[in-house]
Amino acid sequence: MAEALKAKYNLGVNTPNIPSPLSVELHETYRKMHAEGVPIPPFREPKIYQSVVDLIGWTPLVEINQITKEEGAVARVVVKLEGLTPGSSVKDRIALDMILDAEQKGLITPGVTTLIEPSEVVLTDTKKGLPNLLGKCDDLLASIPNSFMLGQFYNSQNPLSHFKSTGPEIWTATEGKIDIFVATAGTGGTISGTGHYLKSMNLKVKVVGVEPAESPLMQGGKPGPHVIQGTGAGIIPDTIDVSLMDELVSVTGEEALTMARRLGLEEGLLVGISSGAAMVGALKVAKKNENTGKLIVALLPSAGERYLSTILFKDIKEEMENLKITDSALFSDPPQEKVKVEHVADEVRKLSLE
Ligand SMILES: Cc1ncc(COP(=O)(O)O)c(C=O)c1O
Repeated sequence: MAEALKAKYNLGVNTPNIPSPLSVELHETYRKMHAEGVPIPPFREPKIYQSVVDLIGWTPLVEINQITKEEGAVARVVVKLEGLTPGSSVKDRIALDMILDAEQKGLITPGVTTLIEPSEVVLTDTKKGLPNLLGKCDDLLASIPNSFMLGQFYNSQNPLSHFKSTGPEIWTATEGKIDIFVATAGTGGTISGTGHYLKSMNLKVKVVGVEPAESPLMQGGKPGPHVIQGTGAGIIPDTIDVSLMDELVSVTGEEALTMARRLGLEEGLLVGISSGAAMVGALKVAKKNENTGKLIVALLPSAGERYLSTILFKDIKEEMENLKITDSALFSDPPQEKVKVEHVADEVRKLSLE
């Protein structure tokens, strides 16, 4: 089964720096689209929108002020907040484009088809990794009638979606002044599609890929367990174009977690773990003398709220669970679950004595 899956999804066939057949094919598509003029997505106006779908894209870019200063960056770092989209993740873009494409091709029917998608590599089961996850999808596809997998790891609409939206948005927002684009990679759709668009506008734009130090596959390393969810899938998917990247930076899980927390505390940006990784990667580039005065855009893939139950907020969770009981907890309605009876009795005694 595992071998069949490997063959089916081309897993392990691609080696670093050799573009997959899909990305070779995409080069031609990118060139053609660029020659025809990629339209800038319609800008968000103050008006009543007709559906949530109309709210996807045009995520804001914001300057990082505090952390760059503290870290001695010599370049500017600006981040694109993909967490500020309806689904709080960069994936809204490709979900929309893959669905529209499949509908147009008659592969799926609204209200009839059940969509199945491998959305996250099971980090606790890293030995089995992505093939295991795809195997689960195959089982679901076989057992659910009218089910369909859009296939973000091999669907060209994934990188194309970023070529058509994320790229033009960054180009427009920076008025064409972007020097370096930094992003993490899961399927690689974000970095490949956006990177190709930016390079098609200005060949001098550099593309920097960030990957988990514990699983540095794009640099020729071995896959391994890591905590930077959404990145480092343990394979080089067809949707990624490693040959596009000018530089690859390794970031440890610990560095990513610390930075994600700092972004919240120091910049007021509540973001996910991979956003921390992207920021660490951007800072490493921003500290290099050769990049003095340059404009770096780092893409932060998701919002922090999605990670409240994860290792990212483990300390806060523990702190909350061990909170000492206060008057308001005592009289809250409904009473807090964790209130211990003896403790309540103690507090009541104290109160009645006052
Ligand atoms: C949560 C999350 N979603 C999406 C992405 C982007 O992934 P892709 O490379 O699949 O476009 C990342 C990448 O780091 C991520 O962390």
